[in-house]
Order: sequence, then structure tokens, then C-alpha cells
Amino acid sequence: MTKKSENSRRHFIAGAAATAGLAAAGSFVPTRFAIGAAAPVKVGILLPYSGTYAMLGNSITNALKMRIDQAGGKLAGRAVEYVALDSEMSVPKAPTNTNKLIKKERVDFLVGPVHSGIAAAMAKIVGPRNAPIMIVPNAGHNGITGSLCASNIFRTSFSNWQPAFPGGKVMADDGHKTCVTIAWKYGAGIQMMAAGKENFEKHGGKVVKDIQVPFPKVEFQAFLSEIASIKPDAVFSFFSGGGAVKFVKDYAAAGLKDSIPLYGPGFLTEGVSKAQGAAAEGIKTTLHYAANLDNDANRKFRADYEKAYGTSANVFSVQGFDTGSLLLQAMAAVGGDTGATKDLISVMEGATIADSPRGAWKMSKAHNPIQDIYLRRVKSGENLVLGVAAKDLEDPATGCSMG
Ligand code: PHB
Repeated sequence: MTKKSENSRRHFIAGAAATAGLAAAGSFVPTRFAIGAAAPVKVGILLPYSGTYAMLGNSITNALKMRIDQAGGKLAGRAVEYVALDSEMSVPKAPTNTNKLIKKERVDFLVGPVHSGIAAAMAKIVGPRNAPIMIVPNAGHNGITGSLCASNIFRTSFSNWQPAFPGGKVMADDGHKTCVTIAWKYGAGIQMMAAGKENFEKHGGKVVKDIQVPFPKVEFQAFLSEIASIKPDAVFSFFSGGGAVKFVKDYAAAGLKDSIPLYGPGFLTEGVSKAQGAAAEGIKTTLHYAANLDNDANRKFRADYEKAYGTSANVFSVQGFDTGSLLLQAMAAVGGDTGATKDLISVMEGATIADSPRGAWKMSKAHNPIQDIYLRRVKSGENLVLGVAAKDLEDPATGCSMG
């Protein structure tokens, strides 16, 4: 028996127990769908709730739940049970955590992760087997739309290439000729820096030094001294969450803010610009979201999120929200039958998320958003939109064959 049909059988049995009274009492014989409909849908979540990315994991989880709550707290009429594990941003623990959700918890859907290294580890388990559909609500690992792509893996966030590539041209357009890149040394940092470099050099710039900081370390002094001595025109950088707060503050404290402008994919200031304070003011970044995007869905989303959680929404909560929308859309189309994997996949493949706070987006052939990348600048603690840096940008999906 395949994992999926085991899963359906489990729901069948649970559902049958719940509806046995009804079936015995009258002549009504529930169909498989009707019985299954009585059992909750299990959504397994593997995200960071501790360490430098804790804010990201919480933002995604909050907004995923908010989206489903706004639709009555159900997926196609079925209650939802969330099983959330803290990934601890640990790649070595990722296989155990993933298997725990699939085999022990027998979840119907997997949502996660934040971290590119964990995404690769999860994809190696989920992709080749008949495992549940996995929705990546953050991790940008290019391999998810490349050699690790799989029919049952979708992403509602971005590939590392997407928000970084346009940033290279932004620096060149601002007249910079030389640049130092600095990022955490793992999949996300390496892939984002490579994408920014590719486009910067395509437009006449030169990356003169690539500094790689062990993840999740935040001792930046020696690297900042090195940058000060190199004196590039600009610095292009990836840090996120707690590490981004520290890096942007240290950069300003080292006296570099006014002499060597800092750029990067928008994670550098996203969800953390208030904590960074004056150190973040004026920083230009590129990302698939900005706080003041002028659409009704965004205005409503930000107001609802603030009301529900007492804090501002950010791109990570947008990705969680859109994950909820994708689940709602797919489950509605199959009438709540989590066993209808092929149909669920085909609905997700054709999905348009029309009410996304980032603006409407479509799923690409490689199962990744085709989306606008915005140019933003921090003003009074908010990442405000300056324009569109790349329209309907689609990941090149090099090496992906769905098979
Ligand atoms: C990633 O590891 O893919 C990652 C983590 C944090 C971000 C963006 C990407 O903000």
C-alpha cells in the first residue's frame, strides 16, 4: 500500500468511527468522501521557532492560520489539525523531523521550511517517494525548482535567484562599478550572492571580494574592517532575521553606512527594519513584497494581521498567507479528498493566487511563483516601494524535470 493510500485509510477509519452512530441510526451510507470529510486534515509544519530565524517561522505560521481561520477554519469543510515542529535550523535533524511528520504523524500536507539546506534535505525524502504534497513557504534553494524539483513539491515564496538577480542591476544603475558581497555561507547566501553578481557584472560591474560568514554567526567586526580597507563602491548582502538586525547595525556603527551603500535581497531589512532603527534608513533592496503595496488585498491583510498578532506583517507572513490560499483552493477543488493527490497537484499547478498581498501571482511549470520583484527603500522604519525592478519574474528552473 502506498503512503498516500495508508493515509486515506487512516482517515477512513477515523472518519468511520466518528460517523458510525449516524450510519447505524439510519439508512444513510456515507461515501468514502463523506466519511473522510469527518476527519480533520493534518497539516505538518517544519519551521524555525527558535534562533535567528524564529521571527520568520512565527510570521509564516501566524498568517497561514489566519488565512484558514478567515475561511471558517476549515479546508473544504474539514477541520484542520496543525502539527508544528521546531526545525531549530538544523540540517542534520531535518530527515528525522520530516520522517516524524510523514510516518508517525501521517500528515496530509507538509509545510516548510525556512532554511535552504533543510529544504534540500526534505526534498530528497519527499520528492522521490509517494509522500504528502509539500509546500515550501520560504526556503529559496534553487534546487527546489532545479534538480530537486518534484511533482508533489510546490513553493509559495521565491527561489534564491529571484529577489537577488534584479539587485545586481540596481547597483549598476546607481553608478557603482565595484562591489563586495557578504552573506552567510550556506545555500541561500551562496545562491543569492551568485545571482546578484551575475547581473551586476552583466551590467559592467565587478565583484572584487566574496565574504562568506559561517551560519548563523554574527561576529562581523573583522569582515567590516576588511570591507573598509577594500573600499568598494557598494556592498551586496544576505542576512535575515536576528542576524540581519545585527549586521545592519554593526555596518552603521563601523561608519560604513554613508560611504559604502548597502544593497541586497530585501530579507536584509524585512520584518526587522524597526529593530534596526536609524541604521536601516535609506537601504535599497529588491523583494517580491513591500509594506505599502497599493492593493486592497495588502491593505486588508496588514490590518487583519496587526489586529490578530499585534505586530506588522512582512514578506514571511505573506508567504504563509498564500500557502493557506493554495491549500484552500486545492482542497475545495477536490471536495476535501486528501487522497486525490493527482487532482490536488493539477489544481496547484494551475493555481493563480489572485488575492495575494504581494499582488496576484501564478504558479510556474517548476511549481514556483511567477512574480514581480519590487525595488524598495527603508523610510521611517518601513520598506516602501520605489518601483518594479523585474516584472513577472520566473525562475529559470535550470535542471528541473518533473518526470
Ligand atoms: C533560505 O535559507 O532559503 C532563506 C532563509 C531566510 C531568508 C531567505 C531565504 O530570509
